[in-house]
Amino acid sequence: MKFDPWNPEFVAHPYGVYADLRENNPVSFFEPTGQWLIARHADVNALLRDRRLGRSYLHVASHEAFGREPEPEFQDPFWRVVRAGMLDVEPPVHTRLRRLVSKAFTPRMVEALRPRVRKIARELVDGLVERGGGDLLAEVAEPLPVTVIAEMLGVPEADRHLLRPWSADICGMYELNPSLEAQHTAVRAAKEFADYLRELATARKERPGDDLISALAQVVDDGDRLTEDELIGTCVLLLNAGHEATVNVTGNGWWSLFRNPGELERLRNDRSLMPTAIEELLRWDTPLQMFERWVLEDIEIGGVTIPRGVEVGLLFGSANRDPEVFADPDRLDIGRVDNPHISFGAGIHFCLGAPLARVELVESFSALLDTAKTIELVEEPVWKPGYIIRGLESLKVSVTG
Ligand code: HEM
Repeated sequence: MKFDPWNPEFVAHPYGVYADLRENNPVSFFEPTGQWLIARHADVNALLRDRRLGRSYLHVASHEAFGREPEPEFQDPFWRVVRAGMLDVEPPVHTRLRRLVSKAFTPRMVEALRPRVRKIARELVDGLVERGGGDLLAEVAEPLPVTVIAEMLGVPEADRHLLRPWSADICGMYELNPSLEAQHTAVRAAKEFADYLRELATARKERPGDDLISALAQVVDDGDRLTEDELIGTCVLLLNAGHEATVNVTGNGWWSLFRNPGELERLRNDRSLMPTAIEELLRWDTPLQMFERWVLEDIEIGGVTIPRGVEVGLLFGSANRDPEVFADPDRLDIGRVDNPHISFGAGIHFCLGAPLARVELVESFSALLDTAKTIELVEEPVWKPGYIIRGLESLKVSVTG
């Protein structure tokens, strides 16, 4: 098999292909997207920290000057939202935006949320156990992080059902060479999401609550701290990034444990392994298989010169299985201590929500193991078509209390 992100076979089993790339072709050109694929941990890790690459190039050059076609006009509402969030900007704007919200996501702030996260996790798991099982993804993995991030931002309960579909539609644009239909869907979702948040922020500016949208609404147009577009871009990013990956780590994680029943048993019998188990599940089958960067100045990677103006695809899934860094990398070892996985990224865009994600994951896996005497898979799950964001369609389980 070859690297083929549109082939469901590859999406289900990418790790053999990665091993081959790491060994024989660690820096390779992928014609269908015009990108250079980077397969080794050392290179991925170094490039994430290298300021000669960027999530965007628009802080150093226009589309034309960078030799790229501007995006078609119909995509404007999408880029207006996405390019106003911290993930798609570089310093100094990135530094300003990240600083505005980072206080809310420090390990200490997040630790204070743990009791609330635990309560939500327990309630969701209790429901699943009472019903004798169901879809672990839809009934536990999704509602937990969606509720937590929506509460932090202050999205009213009645509107929360809107978040997941908007997020999923927006994420469609991040896949490689998205179809025209997926592009239109993403644009429509970005526009609706932005309109919704604009209204909510206006209301919160007048009548602030104890939430992040209210706090941000207070500083909009206060000097040059935050524009309205930046407020919207930030909230969309937090709401999307704040649940999308956590859902898939939960689903992929349980599926990993079901495929390694010895490790599931080990975790059940020794709950002190939970923190290392979560890190190992993040490493072994990360839902974020690849992140892209633009090359802003010619660089050399592993003897290959990559010119300014092209894009590199950093293969996180491959980096996380690199034998140069991880002993016996294909083995799931929930007690693994030396585990510098790359699943939260590295460098200035390192995941702002990593402490929160860790709390959510520990609490949801613990709630299930504490409450359910047995958890069994009902049917073999299938992967969603996406590759960059790799997750399961559903995870049907039966449980006994
Ligand atoms: C297990 C779950 C998660 C994973 C695997 C994950 C992974 C990542 C990765 C890899 C990046 C960097 C992307 C890049 O460098 O191109 C990132 C950035 C980010 N993540 Fe997460 N994330 C998770 C959960 C969360 C949560 C719960 C939040 C909540 C707020 C969050 C918020 C963010 C934000 C705001 C950024 C952008 C940071 C910046 O540009 O400075 N993430 N995440």
